[in-house]
Amino acid sequence: MSPTTAATLETPPTTRHTKRHLLSSADLDRDQIKAILDTAAEMHTVQSREVKKLPTLRGRTVVNLFFEDSTRTRSSFEIAGKWLSADVINVSAKGSSTSKGESLRDTVLTIAAMGVDALVIRHSASGAAHQVAQWVDAHVVNAGDGMHEHPTQALLDAYSMQQRLGDLEGRHVAIVGDLTHSRVVRSNLITLRTLGAKVTLVAPPTLMPSGIGAWAASDGFELSHDLDAVLPTADAVMMLRVQRERMSGGFFPTAREYTVGYGLTRPRLETLTRANPDAVICHPGPMNRGLEIAADAADAAQSLVLDQVSAGVAVRMSVLYHLLSGEETQS
Ligand code: CP
Repeated sequence: MSPTTAATLETPPTTRHTKRHLLSSADLDRDQIKAILDTAAEMHTVQSREVKKLPTLRGRTVVNLFFEDSTRTRSSFEIAGKWLSADVINVSAKGSSTSKGESLRDTVLTIAAMGVDALVIRHSASGAAHQVAQWVDAHVVNAGDGMHEHPTQALLDAYSMQQRLGDLEGRHVAIVGDLTHSRVVRSNLITLRTLGAKVTLVAPPTLMPSGIGAWAASDGFELSHDLDAVLPTADAVMMLRVQRERMSGGFFPTAREYTVGYGLTRPRLETLTRANPDAVICHPGPMNRGLEIAADAADAAQSLVLDQVSAGVAVRMSVLYHLLSGEETQS
């Protein structure tokens, strides 16, 4: 797809990706990712307008169905839909009939029966979004399914890195931390490799997912247990949250030992900056400050943490636009 202009954002795209849903980062090839990121760049200009509103999705209804907590993803999908003039409804497990025992299928069919155009779903079960897409005619966007995937997070991460680093082809991205419990890492791996980035996954042996070696060997990314060895060659360092709520056992002896081995501490920030003054730091949030990332690194000039949040709105506007806009004109 050729880049859209601000003027054409108010009309349907001339070319759009052919998938009905966005369930996995693997749904998108390189051209489709680039089309979404190009449109996101145009959508980003809306944030600085006095009137933050495009008529693009007027008359469309988007339901955010969140069965897990969220600050960034839910708010940014809501803002994205509203800035595109869609009607946006938020449904969360707490306060819905789910708390009375209604099943996921019945909840989804009930909402779909109201005539919604898109369902944005977050659920603790891996595969939930795929399952929902089989039950409804509405477009489905995966806003995080268990430890499986978070495709719009990977898109906004790629967008944020690209804004600072330019084309990600050949750039070295280190993804560091709790790989085992992360849905962000899987989606980022797919998107970054599709864009031609070099990726190194860094984690203690206890937090390296089983089977990752075979994937790394077939796809050509690296694995390491030594953050200090990887940092000097990194263009971007993506720190992952230690997901204690998903841990059933002891994955590291103490928080202090984890930070010593795998935290982006002030000395490591200095190493990174000395080796590559243009290197950037990402974190999908929410952050455990002082555990996987020191405040010095989270708030450093190299940190993209708030850029990622801002990009989240633009990228989700772009995703909704590509899925929904001009749909009635498609064969
Ligand atoms: N990164 C992310 O998904 O954050 P939330 O859980 O706040 O949505």
